[in-house]
Amino acid sequence: MTAEHVAIIMDGNGRWAKKRLLPRSAGHRAGFRRMLSLCEHAFERGVRCLTLYALSEENLSRPKEEVEALFSLFREFFPTQAPKLKERGIKLRVIGGLALLPEDIRAMIPPSEELTAGGTRGTLYLALAYSGRGEIVSAANRAVKEGKEVTRETFSSFLSVPPVDLLIRTGGELRLSDFLLYESAYAELYFTKKFFPDFTNGDFDKALKEFSLRDRRFGRI
Ligand code: IPE
Ligand code: IPE
Ligand code: MG
Repeated sequence: MTAEHVAIIMDGNGRWAKKRLLPRSAGHRAGFRRMLSLCEHAFERGVRCLTLYALSEENLSRPKEEVEALFSLFREFFPTQAPKLKERGIKLRVIGGLALLPEDIRAMIPPSEELTAGGTRGTLYLALAYSGRGEIVSAANRAVKEGKEVTRETFSSFLSVPPVDLLIRTGGELRLSDFLLYESAYAELYFTKKFFPDFTNGDFDKALKEFSLRDRRFGRI
């Protein structure tokens, strides 16, 4: 069984930098480089949806200097990566509390999504200023506005991503940190102590291999 939807909590950039006596921003830069390569690799491995937790809503409360360093990486991401994703047939969707992002970054999102909209090979969901609880609440509000009583099946259509098969967290913490709470209901969880900049394509393959050996019972026997 292959994982169609893999979601990654890309954690440990700061500690990776600290270990090398580098500023935290250097850890984010290293994580960014790793993310670009890993993203290419995942779709080559047949993953259809890849959701990357790049920034949580709570992360916006970190010191201004660090938040700005992260913003600079997103400023670089859209213009350089959208054409590459298009070339590779990958659709880009950005999810999260986008209203919390600086105006210039927000403005980069629709053109990047439009450029890649025709991609049929897979979808990359980039979670920015994201909160799982926020996503559920805003989905519920949209359903209410439409006057719809939702079921579990129809509620999913108000959410931003499909159900997660495999959820990977790097950096050693054993928690979800408000990521894809509804969509991960039956996700297989995979935790590794490796800091994200050290999480290689081979490590990703190892996680896929372990997923393929898991017995997903969905409550049955
Ligand atoms: C993950 O790395 C990236 C973001 C949360 C933006 P961290 O910055 O959380 O790194 P650690 O957990 O402090 O090592
Ligand atoms: C989760 O990591 C968010 C991202 C990786 C983008 P955090 O570093 O923010 O999570 P906590 O604070 O350890 O729970
Ligand atoms: Mg962290």
